[in-house]
Amino acid sequence: MMMKNFIRNMATTAAKTPNLKTFKIYRWNPDTPDVKPHMQSYTLDMNKTGPMVLDALLKIKNEHDPTLTLRRSCREGICGSCAMNIGGRNTLACLCKIDKDSGKDLKIYPLPHMYIVRDLVPDLTLFYKQYKSIQPYLQSDKPMPERENLQSIEDRKKLDGLYECILCACCSTSCPSYWWNQQEYLGPAVLMQAYRWMVDSRDQATKMRKDMLQNSMSLYRCHTIMNCSKTCPKGLNPGGAIAEIKKSMALDA
Ligand code: SF4
Ligand code: SF4
Ligand code: FES
Repeated sequence: MMMKNFIRNMATTAAKTPNLKTFKIYRWNPDTPDVKPHMQSYTLDMNKTGPMVLDALLKIKNEHDPTLTLRRSCREGICGSCAMNIGGRNTLACLCKIDKDSGKDLKIYPLPHMYIVRDLVPDLTLFYKQYKSIQPYLQSDKPMPERENLQSIEDRKKLDGLYECILCACCSTSCPSYWWNQQEYLGPAVLMQAYRWMVDSRDQATKMRKDMLQNSMSLYRCHTIMNCSKTCPKGLNPGGAIAEIKKSMALDA
């Protein structure tokens, strides 16, 4: 009994001792152009904060500073909207666990080398325009099937590792080639989706898809640095998909 009480008291004391952690967050507001972009610090008690970085950001927004601006929706790694640079790595805030015991400050920036709408919100207009440019939909001259457009189990398997992409842009914004040539180089996320349609057995536009990439910039600015595959929060391999496109185009030549 005495031991039980001792353990209960210890647990209560531990729960009451605050475990403080400071989050340093990039702030910029276009409505106050005289205030330069800067880092703002917020300190939270980790005993009262959820486990993920998105939990901390929402706690800050809800309880400390409602002006902090970020995108999020699903909070389970599906919508891709909470992509940002956390502790030096592009990832999804909702899938990124807070290291509660390190005591180290955590720096959070928007995705790098992008125009910023406000705070942690990057402007993805060009990214989506590039995605649209690869015509990411099935193209076929065959008559519309009455029901599903079937493919074999083997052909369906070729889409694994490609269709799971949630277009979060973590990979493209980690790619040095994309940083410097964003206007012309399509970047890993969009190229992986171009490949996804090239290998789809139901699609008949492969030649047109390859022709679109046959120039010095759209595809060949990839120098296989592989930052993209290292950072993908869904564990996908966009660098590998780009290598497959290059191989297949070389075989065609
Ligand atoms: S490949 Fe990965 S990092 Fe790139 S957009 Fe898709 S899910 Fe995001
Ligand atoms: S492999 Fe290509 S796309 Fe990926 S980071 Fe490197 S240069 Fe960029
Ligand atoms: S909130 Fe949807 S991926 Fe993080």
